[in-house]
Amino acid sequence: MTIRTAGATALLALSALSGVSACSPTVPLAPRTSLFERLGGLQNLTAVVDDVVSKVSIDPRSRRTFEGVNLVRLKASVVSHMCSLSGGPCKYQGDSMALAHRGMALTSEELQVMGEYVDQALIRRGVARQDREELETILDKLSGEVLNK
Ligand code: HEM
Repeated sequence: MTIRTAGATALLALSALSGVSACSPTVPLAPRTSLFERLGGLQNLTAVVDDVVSKVSIDPRSRRTFEGVNLVRLKASVVSHMCSLSGGPCKYQGDSMALAHRGMALTSEELQVMGEYVDQALIRRGVARQDREELETILDKLSGEVLNK
């Protein structure tokens, strides 16, 4: 046995004895909770959506597309969408974002108004800034599917 192979054998024996390989962390990392949980779960999400849809649908800057819309049904659908987007247990079964907003010609100002209400509602319910930003990034990515349709 050469010195090198003897060394390797000794190392293997040592790691077998300790039951720890060279790569395994000594302290297991705590599993990261989903954004859904960090937003406060279904209870918080339902309250946030209720708040945002109620405000956006009456604010003169953003209300025009809500005329005649069933807000109870819309809120339930948006909760399910946000729950599923944030890693929660819901299965969103509504239309795609492009189809849901087809013919509305939504503007970036209207989107901005909604974004402000979302942020305010999350702040009111004690959601941390980092988690608010994470949700806003997800929503921003959908803006192309929602605007000018
Ligand atoms: C990223 C931003 C947005 C997301 C993720 C979003 C999400 C949704 C979802 C999930 C629905 C339900 C679709 C269905 O049940 O099939 C919906 C419908 C609707 N959204 Fe949005 N929305 C966004 C922006 C906006 C904005 C800015 C407005 C207006 C200011 C708006 C107005 C509406 C209206 C009026 C409906 C109801 C359509 C109908 O039932 O005829 N949305 N949206």
